[in-house]
Amino acid sequence: MEKIVINGGRRLTGEVAISGAKNAAVAIVAATILCDEPCIVENVPEISDIAICLRIFKAMGADIQVINKNTIRFDTRNIRKPSVPYELARTMRASSYFLGTLLGRFHEAFVPLPGGCDLGDRPIDQHLKAFSALGAKDDIVNGCVHVKADELIGSQIYFDFNTVGGTMNAIFAAVKAQGLTIIENAAKEPHIVDLANFLNAMGADIRGAGTDVIKVRGVEYLKGTTYAVIPDQIEAGTYMVAAAASRGDVLIKNVIPKHLESITAKLRAMGISVQEFDDSVRVSVGDGPFIRTNIKTMPHPGFPTDMQPQFSTLLTLAEGTSTVIDDIFDNRFRYASELRRMSADIQVKGTVATIQGVKRLTGAPVKATDLRAGAAMVIAGLAAEGTTEISDIYHIERGYEGIVDKLSALGADIKLVYTPSNDELAVSV
Ligand code: EPU
Repeated sequence: MEKIVINGGRRLTGEVAISGAKNAAVAIVAATILCDEPCIVENVPEISDIAICLRIFKAMGADIQVINKNTIRFDTRNIRKPSVPYELARTMRASSYFLGTLLGRFHEAFVPLPGGCDLGDRPIDQHLKAFSALGAKDDIVNGCVHVKADELIGSQIYFDFNTVGGTMNAIFAAVKAQGLTIIENAAKEPHIVDLANFLNAMGADIRGAGTDVIKVRGVEYLKGTTYAVIPDQIEAGTYMVAAAASRGDVLIKNVIPKHLESITAKLRAMGISVQEFDDSVRVSVGDGPFIRTNIKTMPHPGFPTDMQPQFSTLLTLAEGTSTVIDDIFDNRFRYASELRRMSADIQVKGTVATIQGVKRLTGAPVKATDLRAGAAMVIAGLAAEGTTEISDIYHIERGYEGIVDKLSALGADIKLVYTPSNDELAVSV
């Protein structure tokens, strides 16, 4: 069992380069199933969610070549059966993307039911509604979602609310369907646009990605391409907040500043300097106190739920009382009790957190309760006095490439430490 150990109180300074976006990469990698030729994906982050995807591909018979750690060649032509192995798919939410991609290619898919997870219940009713609009039927067989269509025929899909995964799956199923599919009330996140750009580079006909209405005209054949994943908006935002919380001065490189606007605006509202350049942002903190502010998470271009735990952590150090509302998932404040162990004053009622700023955080043993909560613990540890030990860091490894190395290079006193778990100790007795 590995832990991250941080001796806090060091200012972060220098430069950090942002990796490819997890939430774009998991969709793009899944989309290679639709490609009729080999294709190469660049700027793939080296994170455990991608490692699991690659294992799923290999188990399904695809030919995967890791050209270097961030560049992967996919040849999925050898996949014969539209089913994803149970034990692998259960471990990642984005495995639901195999439903859309296998359905798009084979007109049938068996994918283990995505269970409840660390953010609460994660239903897929909107995904299934999209498949049904295109002519597919669904049922549950031995714990797997089974979707099947004699043929997929373009249609109108109207989402009841904003869903990133539902929009991705609708695009996957529509891209080779007959005729025109119109997706209304579509999600607008940068990773939706990136998926559409990737598919269009292979010869798909997708228009309007990034707006509420996406039009997909089905094509018969998708050719090979080489495509680079966009930089990770949330990784970039996490380093912006880490720089601020440590009262540092950091140039965050390889970003798309436009994707960061909601985060930039809130940092500036707190009195923190953010300078924007073509493909980098610089975050620097002067001597003054952090100014309190309120946050309400929203779908893109609003403030992202995936930045809420990290930003709330920064707000624990602001003067005065801040309110944070996050109702996108049921369970996004589980980190609050961990932060309280570090002397933060954060009270949660339902989907609202009230944060009373404190003068300082203090190091403590804490847990990463999910991916972004884990990033929040890292930020808290960097800002705190004393030593913070973060356990359950496999959550963090799902989405942050080389976080310990990147923060060390910025001057943090941070290391990975191996401690045997109780199970391992019991075996060695
Ligand atoms: N929802 C339904 N039914 C559905 C689909 C979604 O009720 O059929 C609900 C969800 O339970 C949630 C809300 O709708 O309450 C929004 O869910 P959405 O489908 O947008 O989320 P997702 O596709 O499961 C992606 C990201 C999440 C990110 C959310 C919101 C990926 C792989 N995951 O999840 O990322 O929080 O969008 O932006 O893209 C993360 O990276 O840490 C992460 C959790």
